[in-house]
Amino acid sequence: MSQGKVLVLHGPNLNLLGTRQPEIYGLETLEDINNALHEQAALGGWEITCRQSNHEGELIDFIQAARLDGTAAIIINPAAYTHTSVAILDALNAFDGRVIEVHLSNVHKRESFRHHSYVSLRADGVIAGLGSRGYASALAAVMAAGEGSGS
Ligand code: DQA
Repeated sequence: MSQGKVLVLHGPNLNLLGTRQPEIYGLETLEDINNALHEQAALGGWEITCRQSNHEGELIDFIQAARLDGTAAIIINPAAYTHTSVAILDALNAFDGRVIEVHLSNVHKRESFRHHSYVSLRADGVIAGLGSRGYASALAAVMAAGEGSGS
C-alpha cells in the first residue's frame, strides 16, 4: 500500500537543466533529478509524480488537480514564477497538504529581484542553494512527516 502521494512541480526553463547556466544550476538534467526522486520515493513506499511546465496556467492546473486527488504534499520549484506569481500562490493556498519550495541556487545570493518569493508565503519549508540535493531533502522531509500530518 502507498504511504501517500507527492507531486513534484518544476517551473519554466527547468526542462533545460544540464545545459542551462550549468555554473549556477549544475550538470544534472531534469530527467536525472526526477529519476533519483522516483527511486527515493519507491524505497519509502510513496507514489510520486513529477511534472514540468513553462506555462503558469498549466502549473496551476497541476496544483488544482493535486487538491482533488489526495496528494499529501507538493514539492515545487516555481523557477522565475517564484518572484512574480500571485496566481501560483493562490492555487497553493487552496491546496491543503504540505508545500515545500525548492531552489537549486541560493536565490538570496543573487539579484535582488530573486530575494522575494510569493510561494514562500505558503510554503511549510524552503530549501535553496543545495542544487539537486534540495529536492532529495524536501522529499525526505515529506516522507518522514508522513501523510496528512500537516506542517
Ligand atoms: C530557481 C531560481 C529562480 O530565480 C530562477 O528564475 C530559476 C531557478 C532555482 O532553482 O535556483 O529559474 O528557481
